[in-house]
Amino acid sequence: MELLVDLQQKTSATLQKYPEPKDALISVLQDVQEVFGYLPEDALRCIAAETGIAASQLTGVASFYAQFRMEKPGKYQIMVCMGTACHVNKGERVADAVREFTGVEEGETTPDGLFSWEEVACLGCCSLSPVMMINGTAYGKLDKDKVKKIINDLRNAEKGGEGACVCS
Ligand code: FES
Repeated sequence: MELLVDLQQKTSATLQKYPEPKDALISVLQDVQEVFGYLPEDALRCIAAETGIAASQLTGVASFYAQFRMEKPGKYQIMVCMGTACHVNKGERVADAVREFTGVEEGETTPDGLFSWEEVACLGCCSLSPVMMINGTAYGKLDKDKVKKIINDLRNAEKGGEGACVCS
């Protein structure tokens, strides 16, 4: 309940910036996503209640644009580079490995809330290609075994086990 109140307060505070939120729907949704890291259903309900915009319209807009995320991201947000250098160096194999070892598709979050992942454009460290980045840390020269180790180390670290080091 406390969390819901907090969510409503933060959403309301964001809406205050918009005297005519109906005319700035994308910006409103961007700002709310900035606050929560995604668009919680309760936040959309709150926007609907405060603006009179139908919840179905909000959901429709949010799901139409790829920039909006309806699911809470994982604690570890993995970005798999699909830029040119990484593509040439088999970046899709990195994506396949991330999919296999997290067990979820791009844009989804693992049931334990630990991992989500997405494909992105150049991460700016092409000499290390193929590359992925996890919460701001870049991992380069990847292959399937390295991806497996990185993900398993993070998972084990969460359990308090071995492999807490995330250096690469
Ligand atoms: S293309 Fe992947 S880091 Fe630049």
